[in-house]
Amino acid sequence: MATGTPELRDLTAEFPILDREIDGHSLVYLDSAATSQTPRAVVDALVSYYTEHRASVHRGVYPLIVEATDMYEGARERIAAWLGSTPQETIFTANATAAINLVAHSWGRANLQAGDLMLVTEMEHHSNIVPWQLICQERGATLAYIPVTDDGQLDLSAYARLLERQPRLVAVAHISNVLGTINPVAQITRDAHRAGALVLVDGTQAVPQIPLDLREIDADFYAWTGHKAYGPTGIGVLHGRRELLEQMPPFISGGHMIRQVFESSSTWSELPGKFEAGTTQIAQAIGLGVAVDFINALGIEAIRAHELALTEELLERFAQVPGLRVHGPLQAAQRGALVSFELEGAHPHDIGEILGRENVCVRTGHHCAQPLMRRFAIGSSARASFAVHNTTADIDRLIGGLQTVRRVLEL
Ligand SMILES: Cc1ncc(COP(=O)(O)O)c(C=O)c1O
Repeated sequence: MATGTPELRDLTAEFPILDREIDGHSLVYLDSAATSQTPRAVVDALVSYYTEHRASVHRGVYPLIVEATDMYEGARERIAAWLGSTPQETIFTANATAAINLVAHSWGRANLQAGDLMLVTEMEHHSNIVPWQLICQERGATLAYIPVTDDGQLDLSAYARLLERQPRLVAVAHISNVLGTINPVAQITRDAHRAGALVLVDGTQAVPQIPLDLREIDADFYAWTGHKAYGPTGIGVLHGRRELLEQMPPFISGGHMIRQVFESSSTWSELPGKFEAGTTQIAQAIGLGVAVDFINALGIEAIRAHELALTEELLERFAQVPGLRVHGPLQAAQRGALVSFELEGAHPHDIGEILGRENVCVRTGHHCAQPLMRRFAIGSSARASFAVHNTTADIDRLIGGLQTVRRVLEL
């Protein structure tokens, strides 16, 4: 099957699940922004850990434990090198949500004072709102929102005005999971630093989709999740600036994160161990390392070019569907590989269910971004998102499926 773009070869065979038929319909998976499918190489790495190398890590010296530790730390090294970070500044967490909670609870509890201000944006996922709400409530700090313009961009003049109020931290998504907007996070970080604020970037959608170098962005914290980046579920990453991580108190405490434990006090392990309490996600981290190898072998530039071409084509095809309205920027170059949309007269739930009958998978609902939904006065929407295995044939099936939706709902 042709990919529809010259950048990537046909990758269907790399993803075992793409063989999955339902009611005679082959799978069209357009929900990688929710969770990506798993390449065979990542599944093989998980099986290999469980069947050939399984042992705990950092807790002994027998050969299996040395192998498992090398695999775990090797994954960390490759992930850090890929994104322009260092192993000490690359902490494994359960997911992006846990990574953001780590910063909110550790940094926030130690640094936010009554009367302080911190900023999030109106386009954040709940994972980058609720932890800040809780910590601001606990500390007596105020949470303010950087507004979003009608065309789905951050209002940077409003941001400049908010910075005059000297916030302590700015938390911002690199790519919105609803609007698709790619935010200018390097510029946002520069401006925040000038105003004396730290920055946390939620890179959950960006890491698998666009080339990035954390040194160029220069944020203080960068959080992302493995299961949207071809990795296993249950693994996320927090990159943090070393000086900050060293000063921050532990978040989860217990085994492994200590240097010495006395009866009434303890001292902490070096980075990154200080933030990796207990037996961590060993298999998942190893799997994520292999997922990053998979991305690297294809080349993130080629992935971006492929997904950009598909996004462009989808936007063009959507413009021809009567009653269809796209949320967010209309230029593909300004967005990641996802498009949220409404179809006049059709509830997103019905769109998702009718497409599902043809084994076309799209996300429907509020996308864990209720403040943004409220901003645009919509309850929910449908969203199609791309990954490396998608092709123009998938877009044909989606557009065909929307014709079925219109027919079934008599639109
Ligand atoms: C932008 C963004 N941030 C954070 C998250 C949360 O990711 P996780 O559920 O893996 O913690 C998501 C997941 O949908 C997301 O799209």
